[in-house]
Amino acid sequence: MVATIGILVGSLGRGSNMKAIVEACWRGELDASVQVVVAPKPEAPAAMWAQSAGIRVVCLSREYPNYPTELIKALSGCSLICLAGYMNLLPTEVLKAHPRSVLNIHPSLLPKYGGKGMYGLRVHQAVIDAGETETGCTVHYVNEEYDEGEIILQLKCPVLITDTAEVLAARVLELEHRAYPQAIRRILTRYAS
Ligand code: GRF
Repeated sequence: MVATIGILVGSLGRGSNMKAIVEACWRGELDASVQVVVAPKPEAPAAMWAQSAGIRVVCLSREYPNYPTELIKALSGCSLICLAGYMNLLPTEVLKAHPRSVLNIHPSLLPKYGGKGMYGLRVHQAVIDAGETETGCTVHYVNEEYDEGEIILQLKCPVLITDTAEVLAARVLELEHRAYPQAIRRILTRYAS
């Protein structure tokens, strides 16, 4: 059975992980299709790309009074939900409606450099400041805490002595684009067996 994926993006997100998932589906690397992209506003870059790719886009702001209910409605029919640049905790109601079916990607080797406020260049700067020689990205299940759910897959890359946070972010982002589709494939294989 073809899995149906819903992707949640943030207002600032470029949507590059979203694209990586969509393109992996298009290439037939995943037995899945992206059914909906939920974005906080229509002018979010990810929302604009999804729209132009013919994917259903639902715009929902967290300020909306019935946000959890509306989000559940937007995601109905999705067997897997992928957070890609979604910066907030997901309402508990949504997690309950989709048990063990919500994934996130984080640009570090969790449990290191995760948690509230750890996003974007801050993560990579912290990795450099700590003198790490290796970093990477993590795809994990989402629970009620920031970056704490069970880890599904990690990919690693070196930290070079000359790296700035920006250079390191670009290296890790390339890994992310491989890691997210790989993790989804792993999960779909588990469901199928
Ligand atoms: C990625 O670095 C991801 O790890 C984090 O948010 C960023 C989203 O980037 N959760 P993009 O919008 O997918 O390019």
